[in-house]
Amino acid sequence: MYGKIRIEQVKQLKPMPKADEKLGFGRYFTDHMLLMDYEEGKGWFDPRIVPYAPLTLDPAAMVFHYGQAVFEGLKAFQSEEGEVRIFRPDQNAKRLNHSNERLQMPFIDEDFFVASIQTLVHVDAKWVPQQPGSSLYIRPFIVATEAGLGVRSSARYLFVVILTPVDSYYEEGLQPIHILVESHYARAAQGGIGDAKTGGNYAASMKAQALAKQKNCAQVLWLDASEKKFLEEVGSMNVFFYIGGEVITPSLSGSILAGVTRNSIIQLLKDWKIPVIERKISIAEIVQAYEDGTLQEAFGTGTAAVVSPIGSLHWNEKQMVVHQGGIGELTQRLYNAITGIQRGTVVDSHGWMASR
Ligand code: COI
Repeated sequence: MYGKIRIEQVKQLKPMPKADEKLGFGRYFTDHMLLMDYEEGKGWFDPRIVPYAPLTLDPAAMVFHYGQAVFEGLKAFQSEEGEVRIFRPDQNAKRLNHSNERLQMPFIDEDFFVASIQTLVHVDAKWVPQQPGSSLYIRPFIVATEAGLGVRSSARYLFVVILTPVDSYYEEGLQPIHILVESHYARAAQGGIGDAKTGGNYAASMKAQALAKQKNCAQVLWLDASEKKFLEEVGSMNVFFYIGGEVITPSLSGSILAGVTRNSIIQLLKDWKIPVIERKISIAEIVQAYEDGTLQEAFGTGTAAVVSPIGSLHWNEKQMVVHQGGIGELTQRLYNAITGIQRGTVVDSHGWMASR
């Protein structure tokens, strides 16, 4: 499929972060990257692993002008026995093609996607960090490279995969974060591109994010674009509320990204026989639950942060402190379960960890 992956080893290895160094998120990049080209009529060709280096693109490349770009995010972990495994890469392959379809970009064979990532991770395996809470974050992306300013779908693309050793996404780590409920700006609208993983959705979030920071909030809670009533996502994560013994998360309405961690959390809750419901949920319901005292916990989920507890919600003049501002038991249990499966200390009963 697409030809054999050619490997060009780097001549000069990069210095690696020290074992006790704070890695942050996306600050260091490994020695190699994976590239593959696409041309209309020819398909994907020349997959290659080459030294990590800047890309050369024509200034008229369509990605710069009309934003035809999709990406994914997934992680590789090292078990205590030293085995390197990737969390649910098949799910990212499917979602990448969903995004490709929405932006009229070419599909990538899902088995090839997984195999190519495994090959790259294997080449740079010494970069998979070992400290608890750390991982090798994998960032596959596709950009439109055809030079031209007519608005249409590009005839050429570049598939790229880069790797970065990371620890916690938020400075707060697993500490609960303060959230501003955003009642003016919207992340995505019905019929838009909110359920595709594409940079435009993140660009649309920057202004509200900056305003939230000014109010000492780490992220915003997005409401639906038309009525500003129903919950969508929190920052760049899916959102869950634990209310009166039941876990509720907004159903995938078309404007919400189908998170792989979201799906894994739902599965774990089902395994544990904790009621979990995907449905429309309004901010008014959250306020009501807070006032009734039935709002037990709230958290965001995503590949980068895994599970991120919500310590407080700020909506208009109202401040709602969740679980006394601390980490809830269920939130902690879910975090422990997912990270345990990822590191190989908890039984992987669903076969989520892929190894070569
Ligand atoms: C994720 O957690 O999956 C994300 O999408 C966040 C990423 C954009 C940094």
